[in-house]
Amino acid sequence: MRGARITGWGIAMPPEVVTNFDLEDKMDTTDQWIRERTGIGARHVGGMTSDLAAEAGRQAMKKADATPDSIDMVLLATTSPDQTCPGTAPTVQDELGLDCGALDIQAACSGWVYGLITAHAFIQMGMNKVLVIGAESLSRITDYTDRGTGILFGDGAGATVVEACEGPGELLGWDMGSDGAYSHILYADPGDTLKMDGKEVFRQAVKAMIRSTNAALDMAGLTPDDIDHVIPHQANIRIVESAWKKLGFTLEQTTMVLERTGNTSSASIPLALNDALAHGRIKKGDKVLLLGFGAGMTWASAIVDWQAET
Ligand code: UT7
Repeated sequence: MRGARITGWGIAMPPEVVTNFDLEDKMDTTDQWIRERTGIGARHVGGMTSDLAAEAGRQAMKKADATPDSIDMVLLATTSPDQTCPGTAPTVQDELGLDCGALDIQAACSGWVYGLITAHAFIQMGMNKVLVIGAESLSRITDYTDRGTGILFGDGAGATVVEACEGPGELLGWDMGSDGAYSHILYADPGDTLKMDGKEVFRQAVKAMIRSTNAALDMAGLTPDDIDHVIPHQANIRIVESAWKKLGFTLEQTTMVLERTGNTSSASIPLALNDALAHGRIKKGDKVLLLGFGAGMTWASAIVDWQAET
């Protein structure tokens, strides 16, 4: 039996930090309002998506002991590609000196989980190592005169190497979904900034998280009590709290990096995963739920039986 598991991980954050107090000078908002309504305290901004992605990818490959010639595919989840065309994944492939296919995934904040699940499928088809990256330079498409969106977003990247292994591998259950009828509640037209109906995104996000988690749990034959650790998309702490009330998860079993990163869309889950691993919050044998939702609407969940030494 041939499965797959995550064997390496890494991140990249641009050095410039914008605090809520910095935003008070740019728009009609306060640090207190942003913290209370979102849980965000600061965000990193700057850099190009490809550079952040390549740096995170380099670290993940080093951790996995993966040489450039061993990578069979780059999957880059991003909502803020360097250019409309070509894709950004080939630039990352070139920056890392890889000799493989390279594909952008545009599934907004669910993109990295879509990539993780897709990597598992490619490994079933015979590939050995897939580099899965979530990277964003959302500050390039954020309107800092709009307090409804300008307070939320940040830049950064997180990457993982997913590698073939003997046995069933780590993926116990998964779910991917979308509902394009909600494309108008969060979007950016070509050359323009992000526009959002925040209240509606909030409502739909909570529903999507509950529905997707239940679908992945059903596939895995598990209940919420079986999950040791949860890494949700980092958009708003109140969204997570609302969904957890229904699902029965606690904030103690949840990794949040939102306070320092803001919403980094497709980078947010791998950034939080790296943080959980760096602080020893995930151990070999833990069942970990990775849960994304975002524009589209899209949503995706993966339940993994964590197998790497941390
Ligand atoms: O990856 C997915 C991306 N997007 C999301 O996850 C966004 C989901 N939505 C949200 O996170 C929240 O809806 C927001 C944080 C965007 C807004 O929070 P809210 O609790 O839904 O606020 P609201 O829009 O209902 O506004 C409440 C009040 C309003 O004032 P009045 O009408 O009560 O006088 C707003 O004008 O707060 C005001 N307000 C602000 N005040 C200070 C709205 N934005 C701000 C702000 N600073 N930045």
